[in-house]
Amino acid sequence: MIATVKLNNGLTIPSLGLGTWQLPESEELVQSLVSALQMGYRYIDTAAIYENEASVGRAIVQSGLHRKEVFVLSKCWAANRSYDSVLRAAEESLRTLQLDYLDAYLIHWPYTKGDPLAWQSVNIGTWRAFERLYEEGLVKTIGVSNFQMHHLVSFLARANIKPAVNQIEFHPGFMQKNTVQLCRQHDIKVLGWSPLGHGSVLDIPQIVEMAKRYEKSPAQIALRWCLEHNVIPVTRSLSAKHQEENLEIFDFKLTAEDVALIDALPITAFSGLEPDHVSF
Ligand SMILES: NC(=O)c1ccc[n+]([C@@H]2O[C@H](COP(=O)([O-])OP(=O)(O)OC[C@H]3O[C@@H](n4cnc5c(N)ncnc54)[C@H](OP(=O)(O)O)[C@@H]3O)[C@@H](O)[C@H]2O)c1
Repeated sequence: MIATVKLNNGLTIPSLGLGTWQLPESEELVQSLVSALQMGYRYIDTAAIYENEASVGRAIVQSGLHRKEVFVLSKCWAANRSYDSVLRAAEESLRTLQLDYLDAYLIHWPYTKGDPLAWQSVNIGTWRAFERLYEEGLVKTIGVSNFQMHHLVSFLARANIKPAVNQIEFHPGFMQKNTVQLCRQHDIKVLGWSPLGHGSVLDIPQIVEMAKRYEKSPAQIALRWCLEHNVIPVTRSLSAKHQEENLEIFDFKLTAEDVALIDALPITAFSGLEPDHVSF
């Protein structure tokens, strides 16, 4: 069974997420999510830009689970920065998902173009609409994604409601220590995207060696390493076999020496998605 963690708003989030990036609407996706939910997954990670919210919504209905049993996280795309467009985007996501509330809604990427004073104002302006969605109960948890330390500092000084989560790239070979540390200081839970480095970390020799030693798979070692850092891994798999394997990370621990060994890896499997330089 997946453990849960308390957020700074008092709600709980499962400590393992199932991602849906690059999986467009399809019956295959619906059935894969239904099977994952029946297997024990309780946190589905989607985004408007993934164009699969309808499949996520159908899977929740077909799983037979009560709405309250599933944690549904979606993200507001970068095209929606103004107050009104955020409200419209949230409404659209809810309609597509066939839900009357989201468990979590995130600013997908910080705005970073031009002068810092200008982009800081844009981000806090977007956040005001998130605060309204939260106060109206349409969204139970509000958060950010891909915010690095320098995006967070000014943002936190001006936010009326503190973000509860920050979803960032986090995997062996790419751990964004400064951002994780700042989030910890502010009680913001870090959700780690691409915890398997999109599959690339599974071949890192040190991870393969550790997997043999622990009688676990390389994926389980990488996911467990996230948990050792108090980061919630949001992994993705369409394969029932891999989904089952990825659930089996709550029955063992890595030693401090092995955590340190993975921490010391050089930069590996970085997506190249740098918030200050993305084109959107
Ligand atoms: N906030 C953001 O900006 C952002 C950006 C990127 C991603 N994300 C979120 O993070 C999620 C995860 O990222 P990701 O999609 O890059 O996922 P990932 O978990 O790092 O890698 C997924 C790849 O690993 C394979 N895999 C999964 N479990 C495996 C196992 N046990 N053994 C061997 N291979 C395995 C999958 O293939 P199979 O399907 O064959 O298992 C897939 O090819 C996304 O889906 C999305 O929800 C968020």
